[in-house]
Parts: sequence; structure tokens; C-alpha cells
Amino acid sequence: MEQNVTEQKKRIFSGVQPSGNITLGNYLGAIKNWVSLQDDYECIFAMMDLHTITVRQTPAELRKRTLELLALYIACGIDPEKCTLFIQSHNSAHAELAWVLNCYTYMGELQRMTQFKDKSARHADNINAGLFTYPVLMASDILLYQTDLVPVGKDQMQHIEICRDIAQRFNALYGDVFKIPEGLLVKSGAKIMSLQEPTKKMSKSDPNPKSFISMMDDFNVISKKIKSAVTDSEGIIEYRPDDENKAGINNLLSIMAVVTGSTPEDVAKNFSGEGYGTFKSAVADAVVDTIRPIREEYDRLIKDKAYLQQIYKNGAESSHRLAQRTLKKVYKKVGFIVD
Ligand code: TRP
Repeated sequence: MEQNVTEQKKRIFSGVQPSGNITLGNYLGAIKNWVSLQDDYECIFAMMDLHTITVRQTPAELRKRTLELLALYIACGIDPEKCTLFIQSHNSAHAELAWVLNCYTYMGELQRMTQFKDKSARHADNINAGLFTYPVLMASDILLYQTDLVPVGKDQMQHIEICRDIAQRFNALYGDVFKIPEGLLVKSGAKIMSLQEPTKKMSKSDPNPKSFISMMDDFNVISKKIKSAVTDSEGIIEYRPDDENKAGINNLLSIMAVVTGSTPEDVAKNFSGEGYGTFKSAVADAVVDTIRPIREEYDRLIKDKAYLQQIYKNGAESSHRLAQRTLKKVYKKVGFIVD
């Protein structure tokens, strides 16, 4: 009976690239959300190291960050007993399926991807083929596991669309090989913006460190960053999501709302009539209170290399087992000799 219930759970797949410091935005917008999904779904979360090398990385840094990301996932509440946690490069099926699906994806489709256009503008000296076929690797990540749902931010929705297109094209040729996945948009209240340019998403690759809060920042640094967040000169605490001039205050209200489990409107009500200084201090304290227990757990875990290794080795094994079923099917369909 127990067994049956487990088998019927829908499957979720998602991941983060270990390419920079994980920000408060990643936590509130993605990882925190995953924690609440792990009881109702069969969850697979990965450290997307293959994707990160589409942009130059320092090897030692990449290795370090991959392990840090794993420790952080667990510190945030992702339970390795309930979920599969693995490192993408540990399961060769991702690269193998990506090769096959490259042959079922058109240049024109990839040329239209906004992330490719953005990244090639930002890294004009290194517009490599991997950057171009990034969405095919991402489609492979998802399709290998017959995934039902992919929790992602709005900026990744175009990648989910192309994944579905590729899967449908393949299925039309060969029968039902892939489950057609759906994107699961995280709640809009959790979209955290840059503290310095609040009309832009908070990003770990932003060159200005004052624009984002890293989950690894010292608590006094976090406090300072929030206190120096860009606001406006109106001096009124009100939530006006459609008013660009209010982008800074809206963002601080959203942050406060997510960390205290409230709504931006209610937070604004509680602080109406207060000065920005008082409000910012309260936001800073609430954010530090949210991050503190995660950091304490993280600091303990990152020292326990043997434990982390055991988690990612187990993860590699189970992800391999699941992925091979799909990969074998694909190989057979396209005409490779299997067994
Ligand atoms: N492209 C995603 C990002 O930058 C990371 C990613 C890679 C991913 N493969 C994935 C997310 C598969 C979800 C599913 O955020």
C-alpha cells in the first residue's frame, strides 16, 4: 500500500548552476519552494555543473561551489532521505541524451532563445557551441526522468517550452518515449529584485555585490546591503507593484513578506507612517533571522565532507538507474544496438 502511494506521486526535477554565490533570491524564489514540495512529490534536484562551463569557470572554484551548493540545499531543508540529490556530471546520461536531442533540435529554435542572446552579448569573446545548445542539455535533464513538473522562475519558462517542443517532436516520430513536462512557476511574490537596480532580478552574477544578498554573506554585510538598498524620495511605505518609481520599496516589502510569511500589502500596512530607515532595519533583522539557522546548519555540513560525499554518491547511483531506462529506450528508437 505504502509502496503504491509512493509510485503514484508526480515527479519533480529542478536544479541550480553552481556558478556563483547562492543569493537570497535563489533561496526565497526557488529552494524554499522546493522544500515545501518534497512531501507531495518525488523530487530530484541536481547541481548543474555541466551547464556552468558554457561560461568560463575557475576549476577549483567550480568544485568548491558544487559542494557548497549541495550543503546549502540540505541546510535549507531539502531532505536527502526524501529527495534524490546529485551532481549532473556524475550521471553521463545527461550528456548522452543531449547529443541525441541535438539532432532533433533546429538551429532556428535555438537562435530565438533570449538567454542565448543575452549571454552571447555579455560574453562576446566566448560565444561557444555549448552556450548555443544549452537548452538541449536542459531538456535532456528534464526528459531523462519522465518529469511531470519543473519548478522554475519566469526567466526559465522559454527553456521549458523548447523542452516540450523537442519531446513532442521526438514522440511524434517514435511513439511515447518522453513524458511532456510542465513548468511550475513559483509564486510572483517570491521574485526578488536587485537591491541596487530594483527593476532587474537579483542575480548572483551581478558585478555589483551590493545588488544581491549571498546566503554566505556575513550577517552585518547583509544588514548593510539592505540598509543601502535603492528606494525613492517619496518617503511613503506603500505597495504599488505597477509603479516603477516604487520598485525598491516594493522589493523590500516582498522580501519582508516572504521571510515573515505575510503579504506585501500587510507589511506595508504595518509600517505605514514609518520612515524608510526604520523599515529597512526591520527588513534587515528579519532577513538575518531567516538566514541564521540555515547558515549554522551549513557551517556544520560543509565540514562533513564524508557525509556530503555519501549523499552525492547515492544520488548519482539512483539518478543513473532512473535515467538509464529512458536513455536505453531512446537509443533503441533511433537505431543504436542496445544489450
Ligand atoms: N537553466 C537553469 C537556470 O539557469 C538551470 C537548469 C539546468 C535547470 N538544467 C535544468 C533547471 C533543468 C530546471 C531543470 O536556472
